[in-house]
Amino acid sequence: MIFFDNAATGAIKPNCVYEGAINVMKYLSINAGRGSYRLALYADELIYKTRKEICSFFNGYSPERVIFTKNCTEALNVAIFGTLKKGGHVIASAYEHNSVLRPLYNLEDKGLITLTIVKPQNGAVLKEDILNAITPKTYLVCLTGASNVTGEINDYEAIGSLLKQKGILFLVDGAQIAGHAFIDLKEQNIDIFCFSGHKGMDALQGVGCLIFNKELEIKPLTFGGSGSETFSKTPSGYPELLESGTLNLPSIISLFHATVYTKKNFTVKQKLMLELTDYAVKNLKKIKGVKLYSKQNPIGIVALSYNDYYTPEIAGVLGDKFDIATRGGFHCAPLCHELLNTKQNGLLRLSFSWFNDKKEIDYFIEKLLKVPLYVY
Ligand SMILES: Cc1ncc(COP(=O)(O)O)c(C=O)c1O
Repeated sequence: MIFFDNAATGAIKPNCVYEGAINVMKYLSINAGRGSYRLALYADELIYKTRKEICSFFNGYSPERVIFTKNCTEALNVAIFGTLKKGGHVIASAYEHNSVLRPLYNLEDKGLITLTIVKPQNGAVLKEDILNAITPKTYLVCLTGASNVTGEINDYEAIGSLLKQKGILFLVDGAQIAGHAFIDLKEQNIDIFCFSGHKGMDALQGVGCLIFNKELEIKPLTFGGSGSETFSKTPSGYPELLESGTLNLPSIISLFHATVYTKKNFTVKQKLMLELTDYAVKNLKKIKGVKLYSKQNPIGIVALSYNDYYTPEIAGVLGDKFDIATRGGFHCAPLCHELLNTKQNGLLRLSFSWFNDKKEIDYFIEKLLKVPLYVY
């Protein structure tokens, strides 16, 4: 199979990721943070080591403020609900994924916040547009690092410095930039950063992350056992306060290995993503009926439409007849498709990883040209 759906989940991982997780499943299938026997303490140590590695990779604030969740969606929900200021105002962009939009709509529908959606111009959100949307009640700006539809990166660094001056919290949805784009949370003034392990970071499914500023308090969404402070109503500190219940040890350890691997090979990966997106864009441009919605980018995403075909149907033909995995449709980003005027047919998204090459893109293009034979 040719796999071009890595923005959803990377299908192939580096070997160290599988090995790390399998070792945990075989030899360390215990409950970390709950026992004082040797293996439980060792598991605690590995989890702390993972927090440290992630904190260092993103230049976060402290390992204690690296919180493990089950995915990016959960991290975003904890961040959005946990920083709620009743009666306050929040700004988000029209390129947000539903995992940002839906928690915000929920708060808006309950009358707890007012919400302004800023429209990106020429693909990216402008600092000036954020500035114009700020009101005296604005306490939070939520912005995706890069569009999961087009791969376009927002200038989160410039927006971060604006928001720092204004004393407004800055939450970046890092689902598509983690592992792909340069991130330095302190330098770029990002207060809260959420990402999934299973996309560009190349870890297993089942782990996401929430990293946040030391000066910030985030309230928990779930309550339960933390393995410590049993007689108090709630744990007194992070990470325990935001990590009730048993952690997903195999996935967390897979994220440790994936982070080490990504750190070591980051520039190689960026170069490859730039090369592949450039190659795809240049060659797809030559095809009659193809309209491109992406340019060269380090995220590894290329989105297109083809004639007037319904893109889930194109993806179906490519998958069914030619064993090529792509993603047609709307990518959980409704406002983005409204803005791009692609609400009717959606877009066909190709998303690359380490394990793709130009020959696969050639094969994809050859088979795309055959799609008209199968679509009615
Ligand atoms: C931009 C963006 N944010 C959030 C998510 C949600 O990630 P997860 O499925 O890991 O919760 C995705 C997933 O595709 C995404 O692309």
